[in-house]
Amino acid sequence: MRRDVRSGIAYDPRVAAPVVVILAAGQGTRMRSAVPKLLHPLCGLPLIRWPVQAALEAGAARVVVVDSPARLLAPALPEGVEVAVQERQLGTADALRAALGHLDGAGTVLVMAGDTPLVRPGTLASLAAEHERSGAAATIATMVLEDPRGYGRVVRAPDGTVERVVETKAPGDASELELRIREVSTGMFAFDCAQLEQALSRVRADNAQGEHYLPDVLAILRQSERTVLAHELADPSELLGVNDRLQLSQVAAVAQRRICERHMLAGVTIVAPEATWIDADVRIEADARIEPGCLLRGQSSISARSTIGPHTTLVDATVGSDSTVVHSHVVRAQIGDRVSVGPFAYLRPGTVMREGSKAGTFVEIKNSDVGRGSKVPHLSYVGDAQIGEHANLGASTITANYDGFLKHRTVIGDRVRTAVDTTLVAPVSLGDEAYTAAGSVIVQDVPAGALGVARSRQQNVDGYAQRRRERAQAQQAEGAAAPPTGQ
Ligand code: UD1
Ligand code: CA
Repeated sequence: MRRDVRSGIAYDPRVAAPVVVILAAGQGTRMRSAVPKLLHPLCGLPLIRWPVQAALEAGAARVVVVDSPARLLAPALPEGVEVAVQERQLGTADALRAALGHLDGAGTVLVMAGDTPLVRPGTLASLAAEHERSGAAATIATMVLEDPRGYGRVVRAPDGTVERVVETKAPGDASELELRIREVSTGMFAFDCAQLEQALSRVRADNAQGEHYLPDVLAILRQSERTVLAHELADPSELLGVNDRLQLSQVAAVAQRRICERHMLAGVTIVAPEATWIDADVRIEADARIEPGCLLRGQSSISARSTIGPHTTLVDATVGSDSTVVHSHVVRAQIGDRVSVGPFAYLRPGTVMREGSKAGTFVEIKNSDVGRGSKVPHLSYVGDAQIGEHANLGASTITANYDGFLKHRTVIGDRVRTAVDTTLVAPVSLGDEAYTAAGSVIVQDVPAGALGVARSRQQNVDGYAQRRRERAQAQQAEGAAAPPTGQ
């Protein structure tokens, strides 16, 4: 049991927490996409995850998502989120009806649309709190907009309570006078569950779109002498919906600004937030520095004092502390502490850069473990390799890991030095402190401490320049003596 701070009344938080229903069975035809609208990614998370996350953070006891019969959203939902199915898309009231089976024993029910991803957890929580404090049958979250076009308008009674909401999407529902109202429905409501159930059963499709409109519940409650209140919100960005791809990009811009602000306030330097893209789940520690032109995607994480960029992409990559990753593309690789990457490196999945190691300029590394303090400084391809500690691969050291059918491993010991232009034809291994000679094609193992030389011996041709000069002079003399030919 907990005690309510204001009233001092004891309550069970599990009972008091609201159930949140997210309406998400609409088709989203305006996206013009084979992918369901709510599966389109917004800053690395499918759209549906945003309202779900907000509901969970707002302290929802349960979250119910209303999906279409294809149930395409289910795989994108976190564990514990319930799915209700709306058989046919008859409107938002019908969608909520589909969730009734999940509302057993609920006190307060919060309802929101799946396509308004920018609603903040605090906004949901304050709607629920305000609703419970007033004891109203329903509370609608509203907003006053400069341009209210496309939204349902809130018609208030003289005493300030809510009479009804008129829809405006299809002509015929709203009168001229009602169209001048600038207070709109956000599509977010708090209901007393028992009263909601009764009112929902009475919603009819007698409107311009022939749909069962959820906001009609408000007028029905009012007819039964119940109180319907409005809870006015201040930040219009929370209302932004995604109906087409243009709106998706507008919503993404707002989400980006919020994500960057969150990191900056937590101690991350973002030199140019407007030229930086950070997905929602990326973790960055304080005193990291993000230079302009970076894309930090998926589940990437960056530890303290590392500098990323300029112009670097991380996809599901981890970067330790005090590292630098400059002008590079890093996908599902692990970069440790004090590592230097780039400029112009490409680290591919399965790459592990241990503490103090280096992947330099025009270097590609795939599925390889680069040991502590080892360096791959210039123009190399390293694939399927195990490199020990403090080794140095000379410029243009290449692992030939693929024979056209199978991939093979290269094993390089501690303190190995390969000279420039070494080709390591896998499977092959170099023992600890082994060397290779420049330009070698190494096809056999080099034992520890040995030098592998695999190239033809050099031969010097004495007097070559002198002989060339004499030959050229003789040819010129011959040309001058001969009469000119043709034109
Ligand atoms: C809705 C509200 C409007 C409000 C606006 C705020 C209604 C009738 N209108 O309009 O008052 O101003 O949101 O953004 O509620 N859905 C279903 N099943 C259906 C129909 C819709 O699950 O049969 C879901 C959709 O997936 C969507 C949500 O309900 O997530 C809202 O539906 P949508 O058609 O987008 O309503 P709006 O026109 O945005
Ligand atoms: Ca909508």
